[in-house]
Parts: sequence; structure tokens; C-alpha cells
Amino acid sequence: MAKIRFLGHAAFYIEGKGLKGLIDPFLKDNPQSVAYSEDFKELNYIFVTHGHADHLGDAIPIAKSTGATIISCFEIANYCSTFGVSVHPMHIGGRTRFDFGRVKMTPAVHGSGISTDSGIVYGGNPGGFVIEVDGKKLYHAGDTGLIMDMKLLAEEDIDVALLPIGGNFVMDVEDAIKATDFIRPKVVVPMHYNTWPIIEADPNEFAEGVKSLSVKCKIMQPGDELVF
Ligand code: NI
Ligand code: MN
Repeated sequence: MAKIRFLGHAAFYIEGKGLKGLIDPFLKDNPQSVAYSEDFKELNYIFVTHGHADHLGDAIPIAKSTGATIISCFEIANYCSTFGVSVHPMHIGGRTRFDFGRVKMTPAVHGSGISTDSGIVYGGNPGGFVIEVDGKKLYHAGDTGLIMDMKLLAEEDIDVALLPIGGNFVMDVEDAIKATDFIRPKVVVPMHYNTWPIIEADPNEFAEGVKSLSVKCKIMQPGDELVF
């Protein structure tokens, strides 16, 4: 039995046998956040989909305080390691086995630059993750537009898919419905919307759209948990 808790925007806590992790832990500056870095004392992994501040977020300070290993693309892992934290570099299309289960990095069409005081640092290619834990599969799409590669995910038998729906930087509701059709997860959860006016979207419109696909839609409020 695996469990996720929505922390607002695209941030999730994930727990299962051998895994206590965070995905895109944007907490401190997240207007939707219901959690603080200090809430997480026992963590072993932090997944970072790409270098933008609303995803890399508080990953480095949390990795420092908990000793958790940051899993990300090679470039972001390299960047994080300069702060003295533990990292595991991966890259798009690569799958590897961790003590809790396998993880695959999936493609995303987006950017990944890391904003620093001295300008933007190259953050490699943006991605998403298929995380296997307790015999279940979770897909976190990261920030992405609609891509044909998502059709390949149908073969993965995804239990829960977390998809951005806010438009402007990522898929809008219309494209996220098409993505759900490509991926065919058991449950789909909309994310990355209504954090700021520029990514305003109606999750009920998304839920209505996926109804005809026989995919269950779960709209999560920050703080909500989903067991799967
Ligand atoms: Ni982004
Ligand atoms: Mn984003």
C-alpha cells in the first residue's frame, strides 16, 4: 500500500515500503503549501523533475537537514552536490532499482534552468518520474506540454498519474485530458494550477473531461492524502 499527500502546486509526499520521499518540494514560497521543511524529519529520497524554483524548491535544505538523497537528472544532481548533499543522478529514459523499487525518468517538454544570484545555471532536460513502490506505480509528469511519448506510459500500467493542468507553462485542461487518454492510469490527479492567476484552471472541468475515459479523477486539496 502506497500513499501520497498533496502539498500544493506540484509538491507531494510519497510513502511506501522503504520509501519516505518528497517530489518537487516547493514549500517555503509556495502560496498553496500546507507543510514546512521542518515537518519532514525522516526522509530518504527527494525527487526533482527539473530546475525551476517551483520544483527544485527547498530540496537542498531538506536534503541537508534529513540526509535524504536527491534523485534528479545529471545536471541538477551535479548542481545539488556542490551544496554537499547526497545525490543520485539519472536521465531521461533511464530506469534503475533503489531499495524501495524501480524509478524511471520520463521525458517532458519544458525548460529546466536553475535561477541563481549569478544568473541561470543550465539544469539539463526537464523530466518526470515513474516511481514503483509497494508493487504500485506512480507517475509524476513534472512540468510538460502534451507529448506523444505519453502513449508509451499506457504499457506501464500506471496506478496514479499526477498531471499539470494549469496551462501557460504546461498542459491546459484540454491537453491534460488527451494526456490521460494516452496514459490510461487507474487514477488521475490534477496539479500545477491555481497557484498563481497565470495558471488558473478548473479541476472540475478536467474531472468531467476524463469521465468518458473511464479513468477515476481525484481532485486533491493541499493536505489531502491518497492511498493506492
Ligand atoms: Ni517549470
Ligand atoms: Mn512549474
